[in-house]
Amino acid sequence: MALRYQRLYVNIDHVATLRQARRGRTPDPVAAATVCERAGADGITAHLREDRRHIQDDDITRLAATVTTLLNLECAITDDMLRLAETLRPAQVTLVPERREEITTEGGLDVVRHETAVRAAVTRLKQVGIRTSLFIDPDEAAVRLSHAVGADAIELHTGTYAHHPGSAAPLQALRSAATLGATLGLAVHAGHGLSVDNVGPVAAIPEIEELNIGHAIVGRAIFIGLDAAVREVREAMDEAREADRF
Ligand code: PXP
Repeated sequence: MALRYQRLYVNIDHVATLRQARRGRTPDPVAAATVCERAGADGITAHLREDRRHIQDDDITRLAATVTTLLNLECAITDDMLRLAETLRPAQVTLVPERREEITTEGGLDVVRHETAVRAAVTRLKQVGIRTSLFIDPDEAAVRLSHAVGADAIELHTGTYAHHPGSAAPLQALRSAATLGATLGLAVHAGHGLSVDNVGPVAAIPEIEELNIGHAIVGRAIFIGLDAAVREVREAMDEAREADRF
């Protein structure tokens, strides 16, 4: 029997990165989201960073109005971001750490250090019916605390896995964290640095129900088009889950 279907959420931030290079109107990440949905994406992810380096407020407003699958808003725990989420009501909010000087989200949310703020944010979002996910490192304490603060889901940071090809430990850490999360009743997602070349072993982890993939799909789209770039990742995920039979 094949593993349960795994959702693919496409992160369209880097379509906006290209647009912002010229501060113009194209390429439009909202139009890209529609292409991704037609190619089989189960959801669209967008990260509104505090420095607005790629996605802009207006993009989120338009995405909230036009996404026909599910919108996953990634944001830091700030009052402004939480207010925006409360207004636009995306299906899901993934809370991420954010440092202005970083190139991308470099590590998971430090739930242990910021427990009070994380708990308050989760409570606030859940009160208006938004599904909450915490982007964390595959670490036992972070998984347990994510459950304790009431999150619906965890998104396991796959950056260490992606940046150490051939190393067994990062994949094992993802497997253990996924098993623990699912045992506690959390939905388990994963993402960061995944591509058609390295997604297989992560897609094959049975407890992981959703992957968030952005940069590699947008980069690949330059060569083969966005529709094909989404489809080839989808196929790689399906193949990995099909191959990993019980
Ligand atoms: N998940 C989260 C929480 C992220 O912050 C990012 C990067 O914005 C991704 C997934 C996607 O990572 P990548 O662009 O490397 O696929």
